[in-house]
Amino acid sequence: MKNLKLIINLIVITTSLMLFQCTSDYTAIEGPAGIDGIDGVDGIDGIDGIDGVGVQECIDCHATSHREGIFDALLMSNHGGQPGFSYGSWSRGTRESCAACHNNEGFIDYVETGAVAVGGYGVSNPLDCNGCHNKHRSFDFENDGNDYAVRTVDAVDFRVFAENDALPDYVLDYGNASNLCANCHQPRRGTPVADEYPGKYLQTSGHWGPHHGPQTALLEGLLGAYTTFTLVEDIPAVKQAAHRTDTGACIDCHMRHTTDGSFGHSWNPSRNNCNDCHGGNAQDLEVDGLFDDWLALGHLLEEVVGQAIDDDDQPIFEADGVTPVPVVGIVHVDDNGTPNDPMDDEWHPQTGLFDLKYAEAAWNFLFIYEDKSMGIHNPDYAKSLIKNSLANIQ
Ligand code: HEC
Ligand code: HEC
Ligand code: HEC
Ligand code: HEC
Ligand code: HEC
Ligand code: HEC
Repeated sequence: MKNLKLIINLIVITTSLMLFQCTSDYTAIEGPAGIDGIDGVDGIDGIDGIDGVGVQECIDCHATSHREGIFDALLMSNHGGQPGFSYGSWSRGTRESCAACHNNEGFIDYVETGAVAVGGYGVSNPLDCNGCHNKHRSFDFENDGNDYAVRTVDAVDFRVFAENDALPDYVLDYGNASNLCANCHQPRRGTPVADEYPGKYLQTSGHWGPHHGPQTALLEGLLGAYTTFTLVEDIPAVKQAAHRTDTGACIDCHMRHTTDGSFGHSWNPSRNNCNDCHGGNAQDLEVDGLFDDWLALGHLLEEVVGQAIDDDDQPIFEADGVTPVPVVGIVHVDDNGTPNDPMDDEWHPQTGLFDLKYAEAAWNFLFIYEDKSMGIHNPDYAKSLIKNSLANIQ
């Protein structure tokens, strides 16, 4: 009803019903007074003041001047596809299997109907304002808070769990607009399991691993792989990350408290947010020792030996029919030539039939790599996964 009030606030309605008294020209005798007219319809209440400011607050936030910095930031960000360079992964969203996360239109369909268009899309566009925003849930900002017209704040089904009958479902819920992010920033694959070959994992894809958006999984403390490990350190339980608070998550670090006029639409974490909890000098915050362990693990995984497979994913043997043809490395690295930034090198999985423990260690390695925060999303979980992986393949 408040919406209605707002819209008709500007319309002044003056309604009254009047009963006119009949008089006659040719008789001078007045008749009895007519019955009272019925009351006019009440005027409509004015809009409630919003935090004491009123409509001016709507105007302030909707003004072009307020939004210029937001438009600029989106265009330069990876969400905006950086026009003039390339659309990055946003060109992938014509395919049905990629559209929900790599196409503005696909994402809108996915959120609004639960599915993308069958057969995919003719064009694929980067995220636009209307991908993430549509309309306010309520105009009663005073009681409901301002929702910034974010398209969805609903809890999100974790796809890997929803799609795997062997696993119980898992719902991601950060209680705010971070749920919007969780629709896309979740891994698409589950941890490796031994299938056809007991104790071994048949790795058949050059794109294997948790895919590029596993941030939600790390923040929750989910999808580490360690079934074959003898744990040398406890793995922290789900939802224990210091950085996963009950009141928020992604947007608290990646959007809020910016001072550059972007209102968070560069999605670069603002150090102001870290300072809230870490005191005034958060510039150099990094997860103690994680990087060195992670890199050491990578180098070990480059050396582990498995069995090569052919184009039909069949393990291959030497001419004697019993000696496996070896493949060295379950991951390998393309050195990009910047020695001081090994995180910037490109690590890839390698196909083959490997001991499951190597596959689990490689999964954990790629998980931390693809997450791209070098463990900051969940320091204790990340450290423990990598330490346990190292200990079990050394
Ligand atoms: C803090 C920012 C903010 C405030 C305050 C705000 N809005 Fe919005 N509003 C948005 C955003 C963001 C959108 C998403 C669409 C867009 O980008 O315009 C939106 C969308 C809307 C839409 C839907 C637009 C459409 O195309 O369907 C209407 C209508 C609207 N706002 C009216 C209001 C009114 C009226 C008020 C004051 C009572 C108000 N807004 C206050 C940020 C705000
Ligand atoms: C559940 C959502 C989701 C689905 C489905 C999905 N992706 Fe992604 N993908 C992401 C996210 C999120 C990122 C960016 C993550 C980041 O930057 O850390 C990404 C990144 C990428 C990248 C860029 C990698 C880079 O580092 O530049 C490519 C390429 C890509 N995806 C291809 C695909 C293809 C092809 C498909 C369909 C077969 C697909 N994705 C399906 C969520 C998804
Ligand atoms: C990736 C999703 C995403 C995209 C794309 C996006 N926004 Fe936002 N926007 C958000 C979220 C999330 C918030 C903050 C919600 C919160 O803090 O609760 C927000 C906040 C805002 C606000 C409120 C800022 C303030 O005053 O605090 C405005 C205005 C806004 N967006 C406009 C836009 C416009 C205009 C565009 C397109 C140029 C756009 N947004 C694109 C997700 C997005
Ligand atoms: C429609 C799916 C989608 C939604 C919703 C979404 N993202 Fe993304 N995000 C992506 C994709 C895809 C990329 C990578 C784009 C590329 O570089 O090709 C990305 C990139 C990013 C990056 C930059 C990574 C880099 O490579 O520099 C950050 C940070 C990020 N997203 C955070 C967020 C946050 C926080 C939210 C919620 C407010 C959010 N995203 C909502 C799909 C999404
Ligand atoms: C404690 C603060 C914090 C929280 C909470 C948080 N992030 Fe991050 N995130 C970071 C930091 C710090 C980095 C490293 C960024 C850098 O080095 O530029 C990062 C990196 C990323 C990246 C890779 C950016 C890049 O440049 O490649 C993506 C994507 C991302 N976060 C998405 C998310 C999503 C989605 C959520 C919620 C599920 C989330 N983050 C929650 C602080 C946070
Ligand atoms: C809500 C409060 C909060 C915010 C916001 C926050 N942190 Fe933290 N952070 C913590 C707590 C609590 C710990 C765990 C205690 C500890 O290890 O000191 C922690 C731990 C860390 C660690 C792990 C240190 C280690 O070696 O184990 C790093 C790194 C870190 N935070 C970086 C950041 C960065 C970067 C940001 C901003 C993008 C940030 N934090 C924002 C509360 C916060």
